[in-house]
Amino acid sequence: MPAILAIESSCDDTGAAICRDGKILSNLIASQKIHEQYGGVVPELASRAHLQNVVPVVSEALQKAGVQFAQIDAVAFTQAPGLIGSLLVGAQFAKSLSMSLQKPLISVHHMQAHVLANMIDDPKPSFPFLCLTVSGGHTQIVLCESPYMLKVIGETIDDAAGEAFDKSAKLLGLPYPGGPLIDQFAAKGNATRFSFPEPNIPGFNFSFSGLKTSILYFLKAEQIKNENFIAKNLPDICASIQHRIVSILLKKLQRAAEETGIKNICIAGGVSANSGLRKSFEELGQKLNWKTYIPKFEYCTDNAAMIAITAHYKYLKQDFADITISPTARAEW
Ligand code: KG4
Ligand code: ZN
Repeated sequence: MPAILAIESSCDDTGAAICRDGKILSNLIASQKIHEQYGGVVPELASRAHLQNVVPVVSEALQKAGVQFAQIDAVAFTQAPGLIGSLLVGAQFAKSLSMSLQKPLISVHHMQAHVLANMIDDPKPSFPFLCLTVSGGHTQIVLCESPYMLKVIGETIDDAAGEAFDKSAKLLGLPYPGGPLIDQFAAKGNATRFSFPEPNIPGFNFSFSGLKTSILYFLKAEQIKNENFIAKNLPDICASIQHRIVSILLKKLQRAAEETGIKNICIAGGVSANSGLRKSFEELGQKLNWKTYIPKFEYCTDNAAMIAITAHYKYLKQDFADITISPTARAEW
């Protein structure tokens, strides 16, 4: 039963996980608080923090799993996409470990891993399934025919859904990352109070930049009439913004399900933590007779368990990386 050590370092979280025979034995994450004061992730600071965090996080992951270095059968790492300085730290650590342990190296695509996070716990979706992956950097609809056949059939042409949340939050004066705060305020607000436009984008693609602009002009106009407009109406504004982001996402997901005839539907990525999205997704699934799947919260946001499960499938196919491999900031798949 192979044990795999997986490392995730694509953005501002340093993760390490151990999986044996497809079961996650430990999943550790060190988040970087330093970026909050800058209102966004500062790449150089992220790389430096990965360098500090990677050894303790890997040690703790091994300890929690009760596994020693000598018992590791393969070392996996996030190869792309992400911040290049961050990826380099995880890649170099994984390569060095693979060389010193003389065990194979497995390279993992971060976005494929977000999708396959749905394969960690039972019940697992059966193939084929569709996955709406919504994070701070990506918004995609992925058609999965097997763990090895994943195809992006729709994606954002500008901002990602997480960016739409975070940029809207910034316009409202909320700290970074504002997505979870919009979620919290929205829970107390009226989602039909303000109406924001829905973009008309062909196929299964998304666009969120128009929404951001319309929120900006809406707030400017209202603040001319009442300078305390945001403070007085924050829950209703947040609920209305969230409602529109969720409706844009689910409309395309529904279209993709109808056109492919697939009824096994998953969501993944950090934005799938959003309570409005989760609720509307489940309701839509019930209405349309879908089988719906959402990974556990710790497997939705960036984590190394999803890298480990993806590596598990690659290990089964003996799909190993050459030791000369380099990470890349962008990667087609
Ligand atoms: O997948 P993730 O952890 O990191 C990336 O790979 O980007 O996603 C982070 C994104 C951020 O934009 C954050 O604001 C958003 O997920 N997010 C949320 C919620 N929790 C995280 N957005 C809305 N509601 C939430 N509850
Ligand atoms: Zn991610």
